[in-house]
Parts: sequence; C-alpha cells; structure tokens
Amino acid sequence: MPSIVAGRGQVALGAEELECVAQLLQSRFGFRLAEIQERNLKEAVRERMRRLGCAHGTDYVCELLGSPADGGELGELVSEYTNTETHFFRHRGRFELLCARVVPAVVERKRRSGGPIRVLSAGCSTGDEVYSIVMSLWPLRPAWCELGLEVVGCDINERALAKARQACYGSWPLRFTPSQVKAELFVPRPASTRSSAAM
Ligand SMILES: C[S@@+](CC[C@H](N)C(=O)[O-])C[C@H]1O[C@@H](n2cnc3c(N)ncnc32)[C@H](O)[C@@H]1O
Repeated sequence: MPSIVAGRGQVALGAEELECVAQLLQSRFGFRLAEIQERNLKEAVRERMRRLGCAHGTDYVCELLGSPADGGELGELVSEYTNTETHFFRHRGRFELLCARVVPAVVERKRRSGGPIRVLSAGCSTGDEVYSIVMSLWPLRPAWCELGLEVVGCDINERALAKARQACYGSWPLRFTPSQVKAELFVPRPASTRSSAAM
C-alpha cells in the first residue's frame, strides 16, 4: 500500500502502518487482505486518528494493538470502515421470493420436523433488513404463527447495531416502504420526521 501524508499537518500515516492495520483486521476479524478496500481503510484510519487527536500512524497502531478483541478502538475502526448502506425493502425481489417460495417451503418442512422458522440477516447494518423481513412475513402469520418465527440480525459494526436496537428511522430509509406497511407497522414520532418500527 503506498504511503500517505495527511494534509494540513493533521495526521500522518505511512504505508507500513496502514499495512499493520490491515493485518490486524485480518487476524482479529477475518477480513481478507485482498478484499480490504485501501482507500476506504485510509479514510477510516485518518478519521479515527483525527477523533483521537493522534498525529502519527505508529501511535494509532499501538492504540489498536492494545484494543480488546471486542469493542475498543478496533471496534471503532471497523464501524468507521464498513459500508453500512441499507434501507427498508432494499432489493425488493428478495422479500417477494422469501414470501412466495422460501418461507412456504420451510413451513412445510417445519410442520414435519417442528421448531420455529428461523431467518438470519447476516450483516444487518442498522436493522432495516431485519424489520423488513418481519414486515414482509407479517401477512403470512396464519402459515407460521403456530411454529413461531425468529428473525436474527448480526453485524460487525457496533454503531450500526446500536441504531438497529433503537429501531427509530427517518423518512429516507423508508422511501421504498409500502404506505400500508408504514401506516400499520410504524409508530410516528411526534415533532420529528422519524418513525419507530412497531414489531
Ligand atoms: C452494505 S451493508 C448491507 C446491509 C443489509 N444486509 C442490506 O442488504 O440492506 C453490509 C453490512 O455487512 C456488515 N459486515 C461486513 N463484514 C462483516 C462481517 N465479517 N461480519 C459481520 N458483518 C459484516 C457491515 O458492517 C454492513 O453493516
């Protein structure tokens, strides 16, 4: 990775330090080195250095080395680095497929074997996908309510997960949400443009 020196004398980050950071992301979180996006990582590291008032890349690497495996500065860096793009009913076709094909087939199987229908949103970001799954499956309740439904979201980005737990959204992430779903399954927040998912 080429070396960079940040502008206006704020932060200085060399190629070796950036390489160390990438190696740490690989060893602590399993990121593949070849897939780490160098430009985004530089930006994320520089942002974290500015936040910490850390002028030199070596100091920042020391900070990361002292960080606990879960949370700490490593967690902050990962939250800064990962792309959390999402919104309700993103890639709408997936939800249609889930309702029309996947869940009916799983219901059939579970009727024989027992147990709830389980859905995992791996990399759920701020939760929009998790709630969209539940909202999509809501009209199919008669098919699954006896079995039960568990929808779980997980993500490496702790900041995104904190927003997911709050379940409070502005109008932009809801832009593709059918108005009937908005009316029935969200609670508008007075004196703001935000709504809470009411599932
Ligand atoms: C682009 S978002 C997609 C969110 C959602 N699945 C959707 O399609 O709307 C990708 C999410 O995956 C998460 N992510 C990336 N690598 C991950 C990993 N190794 N483990 C868990 N989450 C990860 C990111 O933090 C981010 O929130």
